[in-house]
Amino acid sequence: MSGQYLERSLREYEICLKCHAGEENSKMTGRKLIDQFSPAARSQHPVTKVASGEKLPSLSSALGQGQTLLCSDCHTNDDPDGPRGPHGSNNRFLLSGNYDIDEYADESPFAYEFCYSCHDRTSILSDESFPWHSEHILGDPIEGRSGTSCYTCHASHGSSQNEHLLEFNQAAVEGD
Ligand code: HEC
Ligand code: HEC
Ligand code: HEC
Ligand code: HEC
Repeated sequence: MSGQYLERSLREYEICLKCHAGEENSKMTGRKLIDQFSPAARSQHPVTKVASGEKLPSLSSALGQGQTLLCSDCHTNDDPDGPRGPHGSNNRFLLSGNYDIDEYADESPFAYEFCYSCHDRTSILSDESFPWHSEHILGDPIEGRSGTSCYTCHASHGSSQNEHLLEFNQAAVEGD
């Protein structure tokens, strides 16, 4: 399986996965990149497979069928004037924007800046797709219930089992 990535690379992700395929690269999530980015994964941010082309409510324009994202669309310098490449950013996980992954988190444009750079915040918080997005993300300050991160429900790379990048953060789910 991994052998297919060791041939001469034609695509950016093949280069990245030479170093980042294995267990030792999933310190945080415990999820192996090679599984998340397997073309057989049930859902994926389209890196090793092409975009479905389906119109999602939160995307101002869907990628056309046949188009893909690069690893470096997400992992890149947060400072557009800084050095380029996937290994320099002030953000955690070397992301282009801030991403809070805590189970109990206060929503703000900054907390999920990274996701909101592609997915429209207003659309997500007005429940245009998942009817309980806002209830979970914002919580309920009057009842004293805090909100939770996208990370509690979504995998950022791909899910071998589930549609819509759904993969529950086991630590959060089991912690209750
Ligand atoms: C759509 C945006 C996006 C794309 C595309 C993407 N990543 Fe990530 N990556 C993230 C986010 C967000 C995290 C933070 C952890 C998480 O949410 O799973 C992350 C985490 C990581 C980590 C740390 C994982 C851990 O468990 O410690 C590595 C390594 C990584 N990505 C490499 C890659 C490589 C290599 C590619 C291309 C094959 C890639 N990423 C494509 C968004 C992306
Ligand atoms: C020659 C090996 C090598 C290649 C090729 C490589 N990386 Fe890395 N990368 C590393 C090492 C070493 C680290 C730091 C140690 C670590 O965090 O695992 C790192 C760290 C990272 C991290 C931070 C992981 C974390 O836990 O926060 C991300 C994200 C990442 N690389 C993405 C990429 C992407 C995207 C590419 C392709 C464009 C790529 N890397 C290509 C070796 C490599
Ligand atoms: C660089 C742009 C970009 C960023 C950043 C980004 N996404 Fe996406 N996302 C996309 C695209 C493009 C698609 C559509 C994929 C397709 O059509 O196959 C998508 C699709 C999705 C889907 C739907 C997948 C499905 O199969 O229904 C979810 C859920 C999602 N993203 C969550 C997130 C979360 C959570 C974050 C932040 C951690 C994030 N995205 C960050 C570009 C991005
Ligand atoms: C409580 C779990 C949960 C949380 C927290 C959550 N989501 Fe979702 N999300 C879902 C479910 C379930 C779906 C699938 C809805 C459907 O059936 O189409 C979804 C669908 C999506 C989609 C695809 C459809 C669309 O709206 O374009 C995107 C993008 C997305 N979520 C982004 C996010 C972002 C960004 C956050 C954090 C700010 C977040 N989600 C937090 C459960 C969650």
